[in-house]
Amino acid sequence: MNPTKRRTVIAGNWKMNFTPAEATAFINEVKPLVAGKDNCDVIFCAPYVTIAAAQEAAKGSNIKIGAENVHFAEKGAYTGEVSAQMLTACGVEYVIIGHSERRQYFGETDETVNLRTKAALAAGMKVILCLGEVKEQRLSGITDEVVAMQTKLDLLGVTADQMKNVIIAYEPVWAIGTGLTATPEQAEETCGVIRKTLAALYGEEVAEATTIQYGGSMNEKNAGELLAKPNVDGGLIGGASLVAEKFKAIVDAAQ
Ligand code: 13P
Repeated sequence: MNPTKRRTVIAGNWKMNFTPAEATAFINEVKPLVAGKDNCDVIFCAPYVTIAAAQEAAKGSNIKIGAENVHFAEKGAYTGEVSAQMLTACGVEYVIIGHSERRQYFGETDETVNLRTKAALAAGMKVILCLGEVKEQRLSGITDEVVAMQTKLDLLGVTADQMKNVIIAYEPVWAIGTGLTATPEQAEETCGVIRKTLAALYGEEVAEATTIQYGGSMNEKNAGELLAKPNVDGGLIGGASLVAEKFKAIVDAAQ
């Protein structure tokens, strides 16, 4: 974590959790716990139907509300999808793209992730771009190649200037929702590979300015050690983002 060069971002990914009423109650609970914690940005990415309630509850606080996905077309015959224009019209600035659950269960590929990323950026949104290796890839020793390739494919056509609106979330798939966390050393090493890839694509200055989060069973116990690593600039948090006290402890660890 290097606050002089880049912003630390602690983001919750609620996934398919919280009705509007539950989101309101949760934001009201967590709001005072993270108030004034200005050394990091605090974001919760919510299911589409929950966004408005969460935004209303977060009004006047340091909490920002984002979405969990976005389609690449502006509008049209894409049943069940939501465009970047629709999200920005609702005041939504942040969006997660490329989460491994989207890739694993909903057939998203580096190509669709790239299209969605470019569409969101073109609409003026800030993207939390998720990538990471699966267990077999780590065990085969090809993690570095996999994340470098994902970084290149997912950002194809994204300009250096647009990179100021991109946060990368390194999420080893084997660590998501499993209770298995990457060691701080593994997180540091792989976030470093991503940063090196960004340097090759965009130059050192962009690479040094890009926030790279770690995600995958980050919790109130391991956040301090992970966030202490120089290439780990924040966290994307699933399970622990649904429990106010746990999330607060992670924000505290980022201070
Ligand atoms: P968990 O923190 O529940 O492992 O989820 C991580 C994640 O997928 C965040 O996007």
